[in-house]
Amino acid sequence: MVKQLAAGYGLLLVSLVLFLLPISSLSYSGQFYTVHRHKYPIRRVLLGHESEQYAVVFDAGSTASRVHVFRFDQNLDLLPIGDDVELYESTKPGLSSYAVDPQAAANSLKPLLEKAEDVVPVELRPDAPARLGATAGLRMLEGDEADRILEAVRNLIKKESTLKFKDEWVSILDGTQEGTYMWVMINYALETLGKRYSKTIGTIDLGGGSVQMAYAISEENANKAPQVSANETYVLQKNFKGTNYNLYVHSYLDYGAKAARALIFKTTKNSTNPCILEGYDGTYTYGGVVYKAAAPRTGTNMRICMVLARKALKIKAPCKYEKCTFNGIWNGGGGDGQKNLYLSSSFYWTALEAGILESNADGGITRPLAYKEAAKRVCATKFADIKSEFPNAEDDDIPYLCMDLVYQYTLLVHGFDVTPKQKVTVVNKVNYKNSKLNAEWPLGCAIDVMSSSTSTVKGSIADI
Ligand SMILES: *[C@@H]1O[C@H](CO)[C@@H](O)[C@H](O)[C@H]1NC(C)=O
Ligand SMILES: *[C@@H]1O[C@H](CO)[C@@H](O)[C@H](O)[C@H]1NC(C)=O
Repeated sequence: MVKQLAAGYGLLLVSLVLFLLPISSLSYSGQFYTVHRHKYPIRRVLLGHESEQYAVVFDAGSTASRVHVFRFDQNLDLLPIGDDVELYESTKPGLSSYAVDPQAAANSLKPLLEKAEDVVPVELRPDAPARLGATAGLRMLEGDEADRILEAVRNLIKKESTLKFKDEWVSILDGTQEGTYMWVMINYALETLGKRYSKTIGTIDLGGGSVQMAYAISEENANKAPQVSANETYVLQKNFKGTNYNLYVHSYLDYGAKAARALIFKTTKNSTNPCILEGYDGTYTYGGVVYKAAAPRTGTNMRICMVLARKALKIKAPCKYEKCTFNGIWNGGGGDGQKNLYLSSSFYWTALEAGILESNADGGITRPLAYKEAAKRVCATKFADIKSEFPNAEDDDIPYLCMDLVYQYTLLVHGFDVTPKQKVTVVNKVNYKNSKLNAEWPLGCAIDVMSSSTSTVKGSIADI
């Protein structure tokens, strides 16, 4: 549909351009018109201004490097690239596998950079930002290895491409950025970005190492924000699609799905743990530390497991503010920006494994209570029987499925103060027009980069 529209639009433009411009000064070749020996894309010529813009985002993960190219119209709506809503390419291994050879790390991105640049029309390249965000893999390198890799990548982009580039656009993402980009992505896809703050959607992204919460808050609550340090704040001032937002974003390091298991193991001091499925006897390794993973002789116990999860979250830690989530962290003051919540990453995967969502669902509406109900069933199932009762459970997760469900319920209800019966949406992909967008940070990052440079004056046909 989008494609057909675009094609129809293109034809209309061709006719109009032919009608408006003296034939002698113009020749048509593919998607470009040549006017006085300068090449301009059709849209740019006809609409009299730069009506579309591209953004290139590299996601440097621990196992692979990926590139996304997005194409936007002047309203910041996505336009198709070929048959798809984006150009996507990936390569293995990730940058961190080249720790000792920064140049080789940078070179591994070269094919991705070439493919990305190829889809951006030459004239639009100097306006197309190139951004690279590195996550877990590079964060774990030692000494200055990560810095040297990032520097080599900067040099590569500067030397090998004509894309718009700033040194600070190649960086290790911090949790706050990841949380911000997820909020932008979800609100963009749902077309709530640009609406007043009370109409926006709050997001909670449960990664492996950390959990991020982001939601737009009122001016009044923003004024109450504690200043943690000069360079670290709870509230970001952002402008998207012409609307100013006070965005509460917090990344809770060590409270991600994989990290939280370790916290729960620590509460039982490396002896047996009642969150583990009966019949399993093994170990769990996180951050280089090995934890004993086995149920006590009395079996799995969901009630005690819930107590341990609350202990791990430090629900009772002293709170210096009006209200805290957990571990003494300011909650942002609440309000309409979190009335509607979208949960992503591990909230989605666990929901799929435990049958809260149907096998092939890209997402769905549920309630925190569903995690508790699922926990009741999972925690009462023996390790050996899980596969037959919960066929979507992944082997690596099975021993911890009771623990994960209990943790996620506790995090939502006791940590983030979501009532057990509140409707929440769990997502992996979000419908956008006639396509589906992955609930991931790169698109949010692309929109953030372009929104930070909206003051740039765009050239018009009058200048040609
Ligand atoms: C924040 O500032 C302090 C000193 O003012 C500095 O030591 C610290 O590294 C800074 N943190 C970040 C994330 O830049
Ligand atoms: C915990 O127990 C496991 C085996 O039961 C052992 O391999 C591991 O070293 C222990 N970890 C700590 C931190 O004591």
